[in-house]
Amino acid sequence: MKLWAGRFSKEADKRTNDFNSSVSTDSRMYAFDIEGSIAHAKMLAAQGIISAADGETIVNELIKIRSEIENGELLIDPDAEDIHTFIEQTLTERIGDAGKRLHTGRSRNDQVALDIRMYLRNECNELKILLNNLIDSLDKKGSAYSDAIMPGYTHLQRAQPITFKTHLNAYCEMLKRDIGRIDDAYKRMNSSPLGSGALAGTTYPIDRNMTASLLGFDSYTANTLDGVSDRDFCIELASALSLIMVHLSRLSEEIILWCSWEFKFVELDDAFSTGSSIMPQKKNPDITELVRGKSGRVFGDLMTLLTVMKGLPLAYNKDMQEDKDAVFDAFDTVKICLSTLSPMIDTMTVIPENMRKAAAGGFINATDCADYLVSKGLAFRDAYKATGEIVALCIRKGETLETLPIDEYKNICELFDEGVYEAINLENCVKRRGM
Ligand code: ARG
Repeated sequence: MKLWAGRFSKEADKRTNDFNSSVSTDSRMYAFDIEGSIAHAKMLAAQGIISAADGETIVNELIKIRSEIENGELLIDPDAEDIHTFIEQTLTERIGDAGKRLHTGRSRNDQVALDIRMYLRNECNELKILLNNLIDSLDKKGSAYSDAIMPGYTHLQRAQPITFKTHLNAYCEMLKRDIGRIDDAYKRMNSSPLGSGALAGTTYPIDRNMTASLLGFDSYTANTLDGVSDRDFCIELASALSLIMVHLSRLSEEIILWCSWEFKFVELDDAFSTGSSIMPQKKNPDITELVRGKSGRVFGDLMTLLTVMKGLPLAYNKDMQEDKDAVFDAFDTVKICLSTLSPMIDTMTVIPENMRKAAAGGFINATDCADYLVSKGLAFRDAYKATGEIVALCIRKGETLETLPIDEYKNICELFDEGVYEAINLENCVKRRGM
């Protein structure tokens, strides 16, 4: 039986029901739907809109329904129209008329807008824990190898010496900004739509402040049409999640490179690697490749949300039911990526000797050599040119800046003396940069 049965002379066709139903997606919001209904019932009773006795019966039965769903005693009907319908109908089957009074002064439109906000608030909190865990993992791994020197790259060409710790720290900074973006979106989302009704509020003397504060919201939405039509917060969060995936994907790409025999800066633990079905020697960084691939999925979710919302007239339209699959998938995906990456980083072996070897080639201390000449009074452009000639000479002779004899230096520029070897020493190069 549908909530809206009175107006209709026929049952919905099975195909209509299957197509229309969102319960397979929205059932995961059941606890928030119940919490919202409890607050609504308490408010109705406090305002004398329903009796105190009805209020109490509703609240007690909702608490029972919640624990029965939790422990598997009550199964959510897969044919229900949505989770809101299922819970209200179950309640009414059990307590009769009191259950029928729960929906007074409320619509599924403000109810669903409330449930998604509450569900997403919880997701944000869980996500932040996972982001902080990854920050910790990166920070710990970097600190454990704080004196490991590696080449820093631009254009994927060896550029200047850096420490491994500084490299990993760059990702910590990105992830900290990601947390900031989640916090910002959370603040804007944390306004209760309850009381917006279907679109035009309600004629009952409800207390929107009471439901908002019972449910931990900072405020309630100012405009009732906006309260039920707004899905900005889903889009904002999907956008912040997309950016997280950009960061995770870049980190993953670097780890993939570092695991290759060409680099071999790190080796993943066997427990966080996979093998090949044919090539016995292979150990593949599948986790990082999947993270890189799953970024596409989260960007897709963002695009889904933008496209669903674009062009919708106010207020609620059924199109908006599509919001949940997209935003839920985006959260699920980012969370599984974060929770797999952290232990993968924790157990990753770092090979500082290989980083050091790579840092020793490629003339990554050439800038320091030029800076040395500047310290001797030469203008930077001239120092740059002289150093360029020295690099070219080294390449011709198969030398490095460290091995080139001082006479050869002096032949190119008079200002060089033995002090240059101190200046281009890689440890000194990174120390002078405060790494
Ligand atoms: N299942 C619906 C959704 O997720 C709930 C709101 C239904 N409202 C309505 N007027 N049909 O959007």
